Amino acid sequence: GETPERAAVPQAGQDGLLLLRRIGAVDPASLDDYRAAGGYTALRRAFDLGPSGVIREVLESGLVGRGGAAFPTGRKWDATARQPDHPHYLVCNADESEPGTFKDRVVMEGDPYALVEAMTIAAYATGCAKGYLYIRGEYPRAVARLQHAIATARARGLLGDDILGKGLSFDIELRRGAGAYICGEETAIFNSIEGQRGEPRSKPPFPVEKGLFGKPTVVNNVETLVNVLPILERGAQAYAAAEPKLFCVSGAVERPGVYELTFGATLRELLDLSGTTGTTRAVLLGGAAGAFVTDLDIPLTFEGTRAAGATLGSGVVLVIDDGVDLKNLLLRIAEFFRDESCGQCVPCRVGTVRQEEALHRLSRRVDDDDLVLLREVGQTMRDASICGLGQTAWNAVESAIDRLGVFR
Ligand code: NAI
Ligand code: SF4
Repeated sequence: GETPERAAVPQAGQDGLLLLRRIGAVDPASLDDYRAAGGYTALRRAFDLGPSGVIREVLESGLVGRGGAAFPTGRKWDATARQPDHPHYLVCNADESEPGTFKDRVVMEGDPYALVEAMTIAAYATGCAKGYLYIRGEYPRAVARLQHAIATARARGLLGDDILGKGLSFDIELRRGAGAYICGEETAIFNSIEGQRGEPRSKPPFPVEKGLFGKPTVVNNVETLVNVLPILERGAQAYAAAEPKLFCVSGAVERPGVYELTFGATLRELLDLSGTTGTTRAVLLGGAAGAFVTDLDIPLTFEGTRAAGATLGSGVVLVIDDGVDLKNLLLRIAEFFRDESCGQCVPCRVGTVRQEEALHRLSRRVDDDDLVLLREVGQTMRDASICGLGQTAWNAVESAIDRLGVFR
């Protein structure tokens, strides 16, 4: 659904914001506004540093992927830059589809040139002449704004040949997804761009070696890429001292939306900003692929949430109050995974169906055999599925049974 922009960015225009600083404060259609608000200083700094200098900064910054898996971005860039096989490709994963995730949309709609600039820097560092922006089809406003930004940047010498007179050739092609959750999986994106069925490939080989069209490919999420701008503008050390993270807050809260915090704030601090409604019973962290937690003093870091048996994932903070029908919520999650499974591998294709069936029976009558079956099916999906969809399809259900006492 629609996320109202004002609610989405409650802190717009405030000092101290790095990722949301321009959103709601500049005209997203205007390249001049973008430049007046600091745009393209990071690319100039990148040209001063040279490709290996940019990679060094990104490595030193400690930046990890914001799509959900938290892999070190600098390592990805370094591995791709070193590949002797050419061409190299850049893919921006903008197929934001995790339920409860809407941060990339806010960035793309409100600050589209930031993504164009960040992709240009990534391409320069890793030796890519071509970038694909693979964007969720259900984001028509983001698509329109990015198409406009790409065309304007091209017309003004910021994409295409000899960018800023520095000899860099790079251009971006926008591709729209067609509504499948699985097409956000990075190797399914490759198949989709290549015109094949959007099914994941087995990894390894990792994309940095063999990705799009079998060539070395960097895949980065939107939020990951735009973090490169403050890294270059401020320097890696200053950035690392106050590293920004976007959170998508929804559910039983007064002010749902995207919040930018510095890593390390607690869940309670975030909920103080958003306000809660009703009595908070639990928070689903990481979306449908994530887990329920009840301890609000968890630090919102990748390590802190992992230690609490959850995941920061793509930054989903879905607040559940005591009025929510948890059994029904679990059924919706199970239905989602069953529906979105690409069906390529048995544990996920069959497991997601069995999980949903068992939950239906359990929601009518609690039966110990069904609880045992559910756990076995869940563990098999986690251990034996090819990709993240099947591997995570049992997380939320497991945590609801073990921590929230559903079906007890
Ligand atoms: P992954 O752990 O397989 O990979 C993460 C990234 O690191 C990938 O780009 C992978 O190619 C790279 N990588 C891993 N090991 C590598 C190595 N040794 N050398 C080079 N590169 C390496 O995780 P995956 O499947 O890419 O993502 C899973 C995450 O996606 C989950 O945390 C989930 O929360 C999140 N997710 C996010 C969605 C969203 O809308 N933002 C939607 C669905 C899932
Ligand atoms: Fe497809 Fe599920 Fe297997 Fe992933 S785990 S490849 S979505 S069937």
